[in-house]
Amino acid sequence: MPRMVHIKTTEEIDMMRPACHHAADTLVMIEPHIRPGMTTDDINGLVHEFTIKAGAIPAPLNYHGFPKSVCTSVNHVVCHGIPGNKKLKNGDIINVDVTSILNGWHGDTSKTFYVGDAGIRARKVTEIARKALEIGIAAVQPGATLGDIGHAIQVYVESERCSVVREYCGHGIGRVFHEEPQVLHYGNPGSGLKLKPGMVFTIEPMVNLGRKEVKLLGDGWTVVTRDKSLSAQFEHTLAVTENGVEILTLPSS
Ligand code: MF3
Ligand code: CO
Ligand code: CO
Repeated sequence: MPRMVHIKTTEEIDMMRPACHHAADTLVMIEPHIRPGMTTDDINGLVHEFTIKAGAIPAPLNYHGFPKSVCTSVNHVVCHGIPGNKKLKNGDIINVDVTSILNGWHGDTSKTFYVGDAGIRARKVTEIARKALEIGIAAVQPGATLGDIGHAIQVYVESERCSVVREYCGHGIGRVFHEEPQVLHYGNPGSGLKLKPGMVFTIEPMVNLGRKEVKLLGDGWTVVTRDKSLSAQFEHTLAVTENGVEILTLPSS
């Protein structure tokens, strides 16, 4: 059985939009709550409530045993941080990664936020990760390849003397949280799968201020930079259209 990339109809993409909007709306909801003294468990509670109230399901909860409803990744945590009772402090950065299931469809989006006043290094890695996602999205159009996306991101991030994490990548998404294809955030132009209208996937570059190597902590989830340098990430769920790309995870208003 070859690895199958599901091409979605416009009707299917219409059905994904509410889930994608909900995930984006959750980030809008959470932003004003992020301040020194709050815990990542507080964020988890807010995301969980907001999701259930909308008739949606937080996809992370119990996903391969993940214990919470959202991923919260602070400072040198690259991704998949588990909410807990540690308090955020002034100058921290935190990625909040929200995945909502609504009417059986998934929407996946994340942002890195500043906690209070950000220092120069926090700003640098965060703004480079924000722009890396933008540059990746700009490379999406029918006829381009997955390698074009990865290459554009890698060249930009490395030109800023930061690094791209290799072990985790973007992914196809729809009725299933993680499906084909894998969307690497590094690569060679013209290589890999050719993009076609109806492909739906995430781009979610993880950018480290220092070296690219990561390690998995003993909890089986939390991924950190080996050199303890700061790491930032932004994510959108996207559809390839006839003319280019549509960002599905935009807020509903
Ligand atoms: N939202 C993450 C992604 O962008 C996946 C989180 S899986 C979890 O693909 F189990 F950690 F929640
Ligand atoms: Co994702
Ligand atoms: Co995500």
